[in-house]
Amino acid sequence: MFSFKKKEKLNAPLNVPKHIAVIMDGNGRWAKKRMQPRVFGHKAGMETLQRVTIAAKEMGVQVLTVYAFSTENWSRPEKEVSFIMNLPVEFYDRYVPELHKNKVKIQMIGDTAKLPKATFEALEKAESLTKLNTGLILNFALNYGGRYEINQAVKLIAQDVLDAKLSPGDITEEVIGNYLYTSNLPKMLRDPDLVIRTSGELRLSNFLPWQSAYSELYFTDILWPDFDEKALKAAIAEYSRRNRRFGGV
Ligand code: FPP
Repeated sequence: MFSFKKKEKLNAPLNVPKHIAVIMDGNGRWAKKRMQPRVFGHKAGMETLQRVTIAAKEMGVQVLTVYAFSTENWSRPEKEVSFIMNLPVEFYDRYVPELHKNKVKIQMIGDTAKLPKATFEALEKAESLTKLNTGLILNFALNYGGRYEINQAVKLIAQDVLDAKLSPGDITEEVIGNYLYTSNLPKMLRDPDLVIRTSGELRLSNFLPWQSAYSELYFTDILWPDFDEKALKAAIAEYSRRNRRFGGV
């Protein structure tokens, strides 16, 4: 039997992270287990993303940043790359209407100008359709690399110093944040409270290295296409049990 105190803790309201970042890993292995080509896993992964976004919104999450394509992913076979690049086009037609109904606001981060035209345009259409929405922000990281992001920020800061728009003494952490891709998010929501990685890999793989300095990390063996509302709740429940001190006591 539980003691009253323990019972009370189990029923305690969840401390829902405001910003969750997800490394959606394991699509290829999920497909392989079903004797299917890897792209079958990416397609299933896109469906999972839709369900998880709605579930996150219903739980009160405010920002969901998802690692959809890294700057390193270009080295995959050309067919797989072009399949992934076509997903936003399909996503716009099949899934964005429901997200829009749910007041989800779609945004993107990364070196998105280098994406194929159709990919970029599908995301831009989604951004513009949903830009006035006030619900959860679904933030796609596409052609994203964390070190590249910091490198670009340093170049922009150096240029602003040269142009006398900024003096070196004024470069604070907050100022640096304004030069990162995540400056597309409201100030208080730029850093993920929780980073989830699926498929059992225990790395951050160049995902939001600056922004995740104080994030709680959560790793699960579940392959991304199998990740569901129950798995999201388990991650949030684990987050709730942790005590974030930000270096204090
Ligand atoms: C990593 O799994 C997954 C990706 C590189 C692609 C993720 C993309 C989606 C889930 C779809 C996103 C939706 C849109 C609209 C862009 P992996 O292929 O590395 O899996 P493996 O480690 O098992 O090989």
